[in-house]
Amino acid sequence: MNNFIWYNPTRILFGRGTHNEVGRETAAYSRRILLLYGGESLKAAGTYGAITKSLTVAGVEYRELGGVRPNPRLSLVRQGILLCRREGLDFVLAAGGGSVIDTAKAIAAGVLYPGNVWDFYHTEKRPERVLPTGVVLTIPAAGSESSDGSVITREEENEKKSFCSPLLYPKFAILNPELCYTLPKRQIAAGSADILAHVMERYFSPNGNTELSDRLCEAAMKTIIHNAPLALADPGRYEVWAELMWAGNVAHNGLLGKGREEDWASHNIEHELSALYDIAHGAGLAIVFPAWMKAVSRRNPARFAQFAERVFGIEAEDKREDELAALGISCLDNFFRRLGLFTTLTEAGIDDSQFLRMAGRAVAGGSLGSMEKLDQTAVMEILELAR
Ligand code: NZQ
Ligand code: ZN
Repeated sequence: MNNFIWYNPTRILFGRGTHNEVGRETAAYSRRILLLYGGESLKAAGTYGAITKSLTVAGVEYRELGGVRPNPRLSLVRQGILLCRREGLDFVLAAGGGSVIDTAKAIAAGVLYPGNVWDFYHTEKRPERVLPTGVVLTIPAAGSESSDGSVITREEENEKKSFCSPLLYPKFAILNPELCYTLPKRQIAAGSADILAHVMERYFSPNGNTELSDRLCEAAMKTIIHNAPLALADPGRYEVWAELMWAGNVAHNGLLGKGREEDWASHNIEHELSALYDIAHGAGLAIVFPAWMKAVSRRNPARFAQFAERVFGIEAEDKREDELAALGISCLDNFFRRLGLFTTLTEAGIDDSQFLRMAGRAVAGGSLGSMEKLDQTAVMEILELAR
């Protein structure tokens, strides 16, 4: 097990009715805030009304900014920064999913920075101060509610980039599974794929001797694989959403990767897909992940064989490691298909015309991954396998 630091300061409020606590939680930091959200879903579900009532009762004044889109854009971040400066707002409350939360983090980092907020995303520069943020989560998926990262798309170049800083952890995140009942099927499927991918990016590691981390990951993966189809079949079951929402948080709050190197190659490749084709992040991962596994398991079958046995319950009997690995990958592919997701680029309507460009951009900051270092040629090969 490698040395590590474990730090996650986000306070989690989990359970029924907890979004009504948002006013009290927010008032501990500010009485004058920006309330940020996405499209129509928040108001249609009645969550907007409950949040604004709770803020008002707690004596918190808010200005609001809606319109955050999936694969959130830099232009709205800039609008939010100007609004906070003009109105003297010193806290950003995100009500939504990863796109809203990542926009809130970007605004929070940009308000106190005299330069261009995009600097944080495309250079090594990091903020020295940020506004505090809070979250009311409405979709278990990105895990941004207690992560230190933000992912934003600069629309001029269709460039999707991220940065991490310990200052980006939200102060609190409210996780009420009841808020998930209104999720459309395609978002349930994409969100579940993203959660599973966050565990897998930590599970597929070149290091050994991390039994506890392995088994925590396996428990999380089995929970997701069991509950995601149940949520799709009946989106009104509290206990099912409770498992998925907690899994989504645990998958990306940092704990599951402790003691070993993680491997984020699939995420990096996917970001190129959603940057160019604007597909949902989780839907892109369902295409990239099996292809990445096929490529990398050829030279590292042992961990993929363990995945097949322990996560999908495949009997080892007298099978070779590479045979087990292939069976595990095929089970994962089938799982994504059961959720209604595509697992090839062709099905998603994506041809090979941009493969070279995507592979080049994916490795622009250096090779990807830790199980295997991927250069541009290796990324091209994975895109071919995903075809
Ligand atoms: O815009 P509205 O109308 O609110 O609809 C949203 C949106 O269309 C809808 N939705 C959310 N909650 C709902 C709901 N519809 C009905 N009922 C509800 N309760 O869901 C759609 C997708 O929302 P979005 O926020 O885009 O989803 P997600 O949470 O999957 O976030 C994806 C973004 O997060 C980034 C991704 O790259 C992507 O841009 N990620 C951020 C990470 C981080 N900061 O740590 C890590 C992740 O790996 C990921 O890269
Ligand atoms: Zn993700």
